Amino acid sequence: MEKETETTSSLTSPAEVKSNNKQKEALGWMEWLRGWFAVSYEFMFQRILASHLQNPLPLPPVNDLTCIVTGSTSGIGREIARQLAESGAHVVMAVRNLKAANELIQKWQEEWSGRGLPLNIEAMELDLLSLDSVVRFAEAWNARLGPLHVLINNAGIFSIGEPQKFSKDGYEEHMQVNHLAPALLSILLLPSLIRGSPSRIINVNSVMHYVGFVDTEDMNVVSGKRKFTSLLGYSSSKLAQVKFSSILQKRLPAEAGINVICVSPGIVHTNVARDLSKLVQAAYHFIPYFIFSPQEGSRSTLFSATDPQMQEYCDLLRADDWPVCPFISQECRPANPSEEAHNLETSYKVWEKTLELVGLPLDAVERLVEGEEVKCRYGAQQE
Ligand SMILES: NC(=O)c1ccc[n+]([C@@H]2O[C@H](COP(=O)([O-])OP(=O)(O)OC[C@H]3O[C@@H](n4cnc5c(N)ncnc54)[C@H](OP(=O)(O)O)[C@@H]3O)[C@@H](O)[C@H]2O)c1
Repeated sequence: MEKETETTSSLTSPAEVKSNNKQKEALGWMEWLRGWFAVSYEFMFQRILASHLQNPLPLPPVNDLTCIVTGSTSGIGREIARQLAESGAHVVMAVRNLKAANELIQKWQEEWSGRGLPLNIEAMELDLLSLDSVVRFAEAWNARLGPLHVLINNAGIFSIGEPQKFSKDGYEEHMQVNHLAPALLSILLLPSLIRGSPSRIINVNSVMHYVGFVDTEDMNVVSGKRKFTSLLGYSSSKLAQVKFSSILQKRLPAEAGINVICVSPGIVHTNVARDLSKLVQAAYHFIPYFIFSPQEGSRSTLFSATDPQMQEYCDLLRADDWPVCPFISQECRPANPSEEAHNLETSYKVWEKTLELVGLPLDAVERLVEGEEVKCRYGAQQE
């Protein structure tokens, strides 16, 4: 895609209409307490709440589906990719470590041999810390002119206890990997998702979004108004994703046949804890009752990606003009995202700021749905 220097729009958002309101600068105490209550509740009771679910989750027929799964070399994404492939879907592992993905594919093919046709699975390079890489991935995929039925934005980071870091694009790393890059990927893949319609974008989100707050004037947390911690970086990026997804769901006309769904996988024992101290990692092994295995943690995403009734649920929320996108809990039930996620005014601000940061025009979705080409500021440079 070519470079474009200006972002244009004739669309007026509620953010502009209500811009006279006093700007909120943080979560209120009660919201913050309720947020931590939601996180603790999920941790303590997720196993009881999800006790009705089978493990692994039985999937409906998926032979006709093509699914892209980001970050599928470990944890939840690895389980999602394997189960979708073993159930017959064409799976594309979108990963930064191609060698690791190809080794996994070989291992899964060997384990699967004799049980049916070889798995239809391949790997493609995608590094979410580089927006150029996101554009290159989307261009390569769209150039195939094939359908995409499910995009699973699973890859994510939680660099617990680490100092603040920035990508080469200049964005705080949690915000880039967990929100900005998946947002750009979702929009650039719209032409393929339209070809695959009815199709779904599934964002692997987190209950931690309940304690997040997004300041669109300070997405990099550098103004000094708030002290950066990895918890702030992670929770804000997850809330930004819910808010962006809510507006994307609204901007996509029902006729396009694409739904955007956020899910909570639960609290899952994966490599996401790799930066925790050895002591806390050891503690993880002693509390297996509370913590899900990656297979258990994959259920809400697999459910959202494949359940035939999801379409009906998404249609219902659309008809009611609900302020947030569908959100599916770790026990595979519709759930309510945080109070802050319901604030449409700030969601429109997150939408606009995100498009600005990823170098897309404000009317990118409308133009892509109309079949027009959209230029992105990123992607021209070759590494
Ligand atoms: N585990 C939990 O308790 C929990 C709870 C709520 C939400 N989640 C969410 O679940 C998702 C999956 O996390 P997980 O727990 O399965 O963690 P994980 O085991 O650390 O897996 C994360 C995956 O993301 C990939 N990734 C990281 N940075 C990337 C980048 N720059 N470009 C491309 N891929 C990148 C990793 O690739 P490498 O292998 O190359 O590093 C890995 O495959 C994340 O979005 C996370 O926020 C997890």
